[in-house]
Amino acid sequence: SASGSSSTTGAAGGVKRLTVFGAGLMGAGIAQVGAQNGLKIVLSDVTDQALQNGLNIITKSLSRVAKKAQPDDIEGFTKTVMSNIETTTDAAKAVEEADLVVEAIIESLKVKRDLFGFLDTKAKDSCIFATNTSSLSVTEIAEACGNERQARFAGLHFFNPVPAMKLVEIIRTPQTSDETYNALREVTLKMGKAPVTCKDTPGFIVNRLLVPYMLEAIRMVERGDATPEDVDQAMELGAGYPMGPFKLLDFVGLDTTSYIASGWREKAEQGVISKELVEPIPMMEEMVKSGRLGRKSGKGFYEVSGVHGATET
Ligand code: NAI
Repeated sequence: SASGSSSTTGAAGGVKRLTVFGAGLMGAGIAQVGAQNGLKIVLSDVTDQALQNGLNIITKSLSRVAKKAQPDDIEGFTKTVMSNIETTTDAAKAVEEADLVVEAIIESLKVKRDLFGFLDTKAKDSCIFATNTSSLSVTEIAEACGNERQARFAGLHFFNPVPAMKLVEIIRTPQTSDETYNALREVTLKMGKAPVTCKDTPGFIVNRLLVPYMLEAIRMVERGDATPEDVDQAMELGAGYPMGPFKLLDFVGLDTTSYIASGWREKAEQGVISKELVEPIPMMEEMVKSGRLGRKSGKGFYEVSGVHGATET
């Protein structure tokens, strides 16, 4: 391992203060789950409006969680969790005391690198940095930081919706130290999640298998082999999947899926992933162009409000 550091903070049992960057869908969920499990959270975003949006997401989700967790005292439960969350638009202040930073801002290599490069100069030496990126190289993001920090850098990939989805993929780069990895395992367990480990390869585990499968499903429909309804029913009843590929595509968003596939086409040039898996699909590109993105635009392969609407979460 690359860990030659003598620092002991941030090691097993060390993560008490978690700073989350990005108060969107994922960042809000990560902050909420951390707060529910006793971590002190700082949630940071670029505008007060974005922070308010994040707090709204958390409040809404908590009202559902509280009904199960503490039905007799929903208000008390919510208050306790919310008291663990502070917000700020000041990125330097946000990391002053952090043991762990989890970044869940927009999916842009440049923007993520700019943020981490800045935070590297502001956070404690012992602070661990993690990115929630779905499709970018964790190693390339980490390179915005100095060597010491690169040993304390990893991917921490949560799934949407964060409060409901148990899995977290911990992504180790060649530089990630054992100490960092162990601390991340421990904190994900503390957050009530189930960690798996993967090297820094395109799509990690889940998306590496799921994206080519969804793309192949679209190709079947494009060729006229079967309808989306029949493919979904086949995979639900024949393979035991909780949701067929087209419901899943509508849930994930066709724009997001298309974006991931196009990113992987570049990786295919480097031989990291096979080319045929990610070849462009005219049907998907046309749907994206015409705004049929899935649930987020009200229409994808299904009408969201229709009988076939993707499952409620
Ligand atoms: P989102 O668009 O809901 O939220 C992104 C937030 O980041 C916005 O509030 C935005 O104002 C903020 N932001 C942008 N630049 C910032 C900066 N420099 N500093 C602080 N905040 C900044 O995005 P979402 O869906 O939550 O995704 C965030 C990350 O999580 C992305 O890297 C994405 O690939 C990843 N991810 C997304 C999943 C999903 O299902 N949506 C699943 C797993 C990972």
